[in-house]
Amino acid sequence: MSAVIVVHGGARAVPDELAKASVDGVKVAARDGFAVLKRGGSALDAVEAAVRTMEDNSVFNAGHGAVLNADGEVELDAIIMDGRTLSSGAVSSVENIANPVSLARAVMEKTDHVILTSRGANQFAESIGVSTVPTDSLVTEFERKEWEKCKTFVTGVKEEINTQWAHDTVGAVAVDCVGNVACATSTGGIRNKMAGRVGDAPIIGCGGFADNFSGAVSCTGHGESILKVTLARLILFHVEQGKSVAESSQLALQYMVDRVHGAGGCIVVSPSGQWTATFTTKRMAWAAVDRDGLWYGLEPNERFNEQLTV
Ligand code: GLY
Repeated sequence: MSAVIVVHGGARAVPDELAKASVDGVKVAARDGFAVLKRGGSALDAVEAAVRTMEDNSVFNAGHGAVLNADGEVELDAIIMDGRTLSSGAVSSVENIANPVSLARAVMEKTDHVILTSRGANQFAESIGVSTVPTDSLVTEFERKEWEKCKTFVTGVKEEINTQWAHDTVGAVAVDCVGNVACATSTGGIRNKMAGRVGDAPIIGCGGFADNFSGAVSCTGHGESILKVTLARLILFHVEQGKSVAESSQLALQYMVDRVHGAGGCIVVSPSGQWTATFTTKRMAWAAVDRDGLWYGLEPNERFNEQLTV
């Protein structure tokens, strides 16, 4: 079967000045992830590679470019999941790790646990030799200025995702050439969030889920809303009922709007290679590579195609 990767750079009102950089960034990430699949790599390796690319790109709110919490600090969340075994690893509230998705993978592969948080996650990183970076090196000048402007607002978590200062997540889903699926999601969360706030991204079934029996999902959007409806699992529930990945995503995202007034987005791939990128926010930068080349978009119902030149 042919391999597929889909990535997103966060569902939100991407400002015009970041639109091109966001689309360019997801296209590079999709190519990087697909390069892994093309040389016979696993879906798990592909989603980790694609998310690392976006964590290293400061246009996105993950790794470099993360937003600041109410205390002016970085707190990063990430998850990775292997659809073969339902193995999953996640970290929350880590401060000085450039690629939290790889630390999440280490939690999955090197511990008996699923999630490690803050100090314990950092201790674990140190114990396995994951290098740390000065937290300030993850923060852009742009974010410092935005945070200064926004810190007078009462709280981040009540802000609708469509507001200008909300800022979201990156993620990837893939199916490899032997039909295994995987997902990964990474984020700095919501600007001005309370210190210690954990969003949907590191929570299994919310920010992501992967199961070879149904598919892989990475979610983005207002974390508290995604948590309430367990969005990733809800999407796969609809898939399990026989609906397409596109219809399942639309149904689940609309349920989140109707039930908790939350906006967001998702990418989904099935073990047979069906895929979708769907959102209820104003914009979401996404890109995919399948047997027909590179696909990408930013606005609702936008879908451009290019030949892949790898
Ligand atoms: N969806 C990312 C967050 O709310 O933390």
